Amino acid sequence: MEKEKNTLTITDNRTNQSYTVPIDKGAIRAMDLRKIKTGPDDFGLMSYDPAFMNTASCQSSITYIDGDRGILRYRGYPIEVLAEHCTFLEVAYLLQFGNLPAEKELKTWVNEITHHTMLHEIIKDFMEGFRRVSHPMSMLVSGVAALSAIYPDAKNVLDPESRLHQIKRLIAKMPSISAMAYRHTLGFPYVYPDNDLSYTENFMNMLWKMVEPKYRAAPELARALDVLFILHADHEQNCGTNTMRCVGSAHTDPFLATAAAAAALAGPRHGGANEEVLKMLDEIGSKQNVPAYIKRIKEGHSKLMGFGHRIYKSYDPRARIIKWTAEQVFQVTKRNPRIDVALELERIALEDDYFVQHKLYPNVDFYSGIICQAMGFKPEMFTVLFAIPRTAGWLAHWDEMMRDPEQKIARPRQVWTGEPERRFVPITERAAPALV
Ligand code: CMC
Repeated sequence: MEKEKNTLTITDNRTNQSYTVPIDKGAIRAMDLRKIKTGPDDFGLMSYDPAFMNTASCQSSITYIDGDRGILRYRGYPIEVLAEHCTFLEVAYLLQFGNLPAEKELKTWVNEITHHTMLHEIIKDFMEGFRRVSHPMSMLVSGVAALSAIYPDAKNVLDPESRLHQIKRLIAKMPSISAMAYRHTLGFPYVYPDNDLSYTENFMNMLWKMVEPKYRAAPELARALDVLFILHADHEQNCGTNTMRCVGSAHTDPFLATAAAAAALAGPRHGGANEEVLKMLDEIGSKQNVPAYIKRIKEGHSKLMGFGHRIYKSYDPRARIIKWTAEQVFQVTKRNPRIDVALELERIALEDDYFVQHKLYPNVDFYSGIICQAMGFKPEMFTVLFAIPRTAGWLAHWDEMMRDPEQKIARPRQVWTGEPERRFVPITERAAPALV
């Protein structure tokens, strides 16, 4: 009886036929629609969903988001709790293995990641090929893809042990490549990893060490960066993660799949938004100019960067934690004057009918750039700072997909809107096509 209740009955008005399909976990299977046909020659019904607005492409137990209530949980733990009590590597372990590590497991995990931070020397030569003005995201994406050539064993994607080995390599080497890309833009010598330091301290060491024998980051700033990494570690099926799963579904090695996911992240609608927020705050300049800027947004001149989200239709919980972290950072660094413009922008936008009606709230990118800039990062590095921790999420999803017996190579369908079969015309007989 209960089983029959969990079904959907669809009547096809073209044929007057009814079909009953099961509902499982709030979803019907798209393939069940295929049996809805007008006749034996009909291919069967498809669902049309540009931009995947309402299509689940997998079952996952990694990250849960309730966008209406502003909830984000990794493996069941609220993001606020993880940001308060954990380190980034602890969270990376949680994403990968499903549970928080006990002390011994964490020690082993941290030790293993720490011992994979070195890069093959050839990566240095590879970096040298880039112009100094290159965007660090372009260098990061290329650098990660280049690792595929260094580790051919990574092609062994069906072997869970090999997968875990590559996961450790990737989590470990992302900060090293990122720091190398950054130093390249400045023309500074590359800094080798320091195994005495934590994940984020070591990243800061590789970025900023000059001639001092030992680099020591301010603990408050290292912690703030760690929190930022925790907040960015995963966000279920976003554009970058979907790319990771899609490319990975072809059994491409994880270095290439991660490069593809990072390339998706680089876009200004995705991880590139934090850089755009800073440009926007600079353009606004001061608090007095905020109302005029909001007016321009409402007139459709541009979007308010760092606002809006496909999933969150109430406050993004990460933005709240970042706003708090910003104040901690400013206790050590100088207060970034852009924060006052941002706070005013948020205040006015949240009272404005347009933003209320469209359910537009600050997202994770709204405040993150301001903190990163105060910490000394150049805006071009902001998306890199997003890509490093997100690698842990991408890899957890990749491994989950590889273990899922239902998954096959990703291959969406299309709704055909082109010409029917056409007669070939030799070039001498063709009329010039109309210019569009
Ligand atoms: N400023 C002004 N209007 C907006 C904004 C914004 N930031 N975002 C959405 N809208 C409007 C949009 O014009 C549309 O209005 P209408 O229905 O009247 O045509 C409506 O709200 C729905 O927007 P949409 O573009 O259909 O929503 P989406 O889910 O496709 O896009 C988004 C989500 C994040 C791409 C979009 O909100 C946006 O471009 N925001 C600015 C860029 C940004 O901050 N991106 C970072 C996202 S968080 C980090 C990440 O996940 O990578």
